[in-house]
Amino acid sequence: MATKAPVFTTEQFERLSDIIDRSKEVKGALIGVLQQAQEVFGYLPPEAQVKIAQGLDLPIEQVYSTSTFYSQFFLAPKGKYRINVCMGTACYVKGAGAMLDQFGIQLGIKPGECTPDMMFSLDGCRCIGVCGLAPVLTINEDVHGKIYSEDVAGVLAQYPKPE
Ligand code: FES
Repeated sequence: MATKAPVFTTEQFERLSDIIDRSKEVKGALIGVLQQAQEVFGYLPPEAQVKIAQGLDLPIEQVYSTSTFYSQFFLAPKGKYRINVCMGTACYVKGAGAMLDQFGIQLGIKPGECTPDMMFSLDGCRCIGVCGLAPVLTINEDVHGKIYSEDVAGVLAQYPKPE
């Protein structure tokens, strides 16, 4: 199931214009502008990156290469609940791949996608440093350890959708 393209508002683009205007004369402003743009849109859609390139008078290639280089930047919409399954070695050998697959099956999305209702997004990630809890995943700031395929439904049930 593909992620539905979000519709952006005039207000969001006005806020982006203000951010760009405030940063135009600042040397090395690009990363700060990208961070603020991500706060406005929830991620960095191509339309925003083009506007940033034009506004800061930078080549679009420079904006794209910066936004794709840093892991803090999201190039696709993320859900209210951002699921990251650790695919580091310790987690992988304990079944993280099957667990990731099970999240995909239950949510009807692939890694890198977001559910159409924007509630859940699913990604794999590198070791998050709690290998003793393998296999591990995070949902926003919550860490869930020793989670196997059969535990996935129970984890998702802790993040209910609004009625
Ligand atoms: S390999 Fe998963 S937390 Fe380290």
